[in-house]
Amino acid sequence: MRNVFFRIYYSLQYYLTKKNPINLHSPFLYQLYLKTYRTDYKIPQQLVSYQNKLSKRNEYIEFQSIGANKKFIKTRVNKWQKRISTKLQKRKYIIGLAEYFHAKKILELGGGFGKTSAMLASSLPLTEIYTIEGVTVLNNYITNLKNELNLVNLYNFNLDFNTAIDKFINENKKFELIIVDGSHHYETTLKTINQLPAILSEQSIVILDDINYSRSMYQAWKEIIKNNDFFDVKWERNGYGLLIKNPDISKQVLKI
Ligand SMILES: C[S@@+](CC[C@H](N)C(=O)[O-])C[C@H]1O[C@@H](n2cnc3c(N)ncnc32)[C@H](O)[C@@H]1O
Repeated sequence: MRNVFFRIYYSLQYYLTKKNPINLHSPFLYQLYLKTYRTDYKIPQQLVSYQNKLSKRNEYIEFQSIGANKKFIKTRVNKWQKRISTKLQKRKYIIGLAEYFHAKKILELGGGFGKTSAMLASSLPLTEIYTIEGVTVLNNYITNLKNELNLVNLYNFNLDFNTAIDKFINENKKFELIIVDGSHHYETTLKTINQLPAILSEQSIVILDDINYSRSMYQAWKEIIKNNDFFDVKWERNGYGLLIKNPDISKQVLKI
């Protein structure tokens, strides 16, 4: 309940303190602001069917959660998918960001039922999409979806984030876009963000989702703004943060 109150407080303070886009002096950032909301994207019919099927599946799944609240969870598929999946509008926005950054490789930390990674893989067939999901039963959903839709550019791994990042460091893989949508926890979020420079391309973007999830998630965002020197732009949007690496842009913190 405390988190619900925090989200209401967050929305209010966000709308009262955000600045007008006119404050975006860099053409790169202004174009990013204008061009990345994709409204024209048509979701492939097979993906729509998958979503419809998930919303009707009322069998139980059981697993040990590894996100913000570590506990044993027994829940219905339709209920859990509704609770954890990224909203459609944001998934379309991520496609727009991927296009803007000419992403050749995208990493999603926190795969869930695979809705975002499958949508990225089907809309960007020339991009390699990597998604990491630590809960085996959820990762199995992603594997089935990938096979059903024949998404040859989608690579899913049933790993912990740390292990996955170490693996990509060893393979010298670099990503233009990384979506952090996992732990929702102060320490682990900061730890994950600090591990990312080793696997980011020279010009790249990180989306840190759900910075309004709880007071501690927002503290993690504030800590990144204050003390992280790696990213050139730290941009707060309503409920998520954008961390941009672009050596051609001066260092700045935005709330627009
Ligand atoms: C909010 S959900 C992801 C939703 C997904 N991005 C989507 O768009 O549908 C977060 C997922 O991250 C996974 N997760 C959290 N912490 C993790 C960790 N340290 N390692 C691996 N997976 C983790 C959880 O099991 C959960 O399924």
